Amino acid sequence: MNPFAPGFTPTLVDGGLTMRSVRMRDSRELEQVLLEHRQWLQPWEATLPGGSGRWDVRGSIRGLLDQAAEGTAMPFVLVVDGRIVGQLTVSGIQYGAVSSATLGYWVGSHVAGRGITPTAVALATDHCFSQLGLHRMEICIRPENAPSLRVVEKLGFRYEGRRLRYIHIDGDWRDHDCFALVREEVPAGVLRRWREGGVDESAAARPGLG
Ligand SMILES: CC(C)(COP(=O)(O)OP(=O)(O)OC[C@H]1O[C@@H](n2cnc3c(N)ncnc32)[C@H](O)[C@@H]1OP(=O)(O)O)[C@@H](O)C(=O)NCCC(=O)NCCS
Repeated sequence: MNPFAPGFTPTLVDGGLTMRSVRMRDSRELEQVLLEHRQWLQPWEATLPGGSGRWDVRGSIRGLLDQAAEGTAMPFVLVVDGRIVGQLTVSGIQYGAVSSATLGYWVGSHVAGRGITPTAVALATDHCFSQLGLHRMEICIRPENAPSLRVVEKLGFRYEGRRLRYIHIDGDWRDHDCFALVREEVPAGVLRRWREGGVDESAAARPGLG
């Protein structure tokens, strides 16, 4: 398959981090990590309005792979030392006049604070800009999620505004602060700009909040 074609999730590597497409056979390992880090993840987890709250990891992987096959998502698992430590999903991929996508992510608490997520966000964003030809990448975060706000700040994602009661998270509709980058803001790439210390962290500042 053409590695740059819509519907293909590439393998991206930086240092000890490998991001590759999720597979059905990851379900057991993924479920184990999700269970181990249940308390850590729950406040930030998307939920189905009116749903039972029951987990279906196989169903969720199947759904992601269906979206990937349609070319609207790239569902990565994050692998360190041969173990799955988190996920990053590029979803809502649109081409044409919009050419935009959304990023979502989590890592287990045992690897938090090592820069895994910003590295993964930078790798995925650079791939989407340079190989898929997308123009804009968006990340939406609950205003209370300080670690995730720090990720967009480190990478210089620009604050766009607050969407009220935007996504159903942890059992209710939650406000989200939205951040974005467009391709022309990062001509040398997101990873390189970050590594070279060229990020203006104030881009993510939220008026009145910092
Ligand atoms: C948000 C999240 C993905 C960040 O991932 P990460 O790989 O730890 O990212 P970083 O290493 O860049 O750390 C980001 C910030 O988290 C904070 N942090 C670091 N270690 C931490 C820990 N053990 N516990 C809580 N916060 C921690 C620090 O403020 C850090 O910023 P710093 O590097 O300037 O000190 C991760 O905390 C997570 O998965 N949280 C639960 C799920 C979630 O919130 N998903 C995102 C929804 S929008």
